[in-house]
Amino acid sequence: MQIFVDTADLDEIRELASWGVIDGVTTNPTLIARSGRSFKEVVDEIFKIVDGPISLEVVSEDAEGMIKEAKELAKIHKNVVVKIPMTVEGLKAVKVLSREGIKTNVTLVFSANQALLAAKAGATYVSPFIGRLDDIGNEGMQIIEEIVDIFRNYGFKTKIIVSSVRHPIHVIQAARLGADVVTIPPTVLRKMVKHPLTDIGVKRFLEDWKRVPK
Ligand code: E4P
Repeated sequence: MQIFVDTADLDEIRELASWGVIDGVTTNPTLIARSGRSFKEVVDEIFKIVDGPISLEVVSEDAEGMIKEAKELAKIHKNVVVKIPMTVEGLKAVKVLSREGIKTNVTLVFSANQALLAAKAGATYVSPFIGRLDDIGNEGMQIIEEIVDIFRNYGFKTKIIVSSVRHPIHVIQAARLGADVVTIPPTVLRKMVKHPLTDIGVKRFLEDWKRVPK
């Protein structure tokens, strides 16, 4: 399973990349705005830090505009994956872009049917938003189970990026279901690494080591 970091915070990306567990980065307009930096500044830097798929989102609403933006974004770096919203116009854009060899990540997916259509259009990745479904009282992880089954049944090459992750249990559930990728916010990655028994164990070993005759 690949792990992407879901942030546009350059200091966080730098730190988490140094852990050696990050395969790629996902951003969106909200995350770029939250970084307090310009799009260009963020993007130029991310490619220097992480050598893996980096999702950058278009902001056009019509297929023509999305395709134009996608082509510009794809010129930035070989690792660019263009994030396209799951709309009819988005599907049209994905079809054209996939024929031209531009990688796409269909975002704002909230059902298995949407994921199926995105895969049919030729999406490289689909991003089902689990946390936002949980937020409205649905069982978000259920659509991951459905999408994994459907893609497996028909041998779709489209990869599933479990998105809108809120806590470490989401990551375990996604991994058990066999999702290809989980994109994780820095706060959740920090929780994943921690266990109080590890901290107690390290402390005790270091204390005991002091009592070993030198
Ligand atoms: C995925 O690529 C999105 O950036 C992200 O997971 C959205 O999650 P949110 O619901 O926390 O905004």
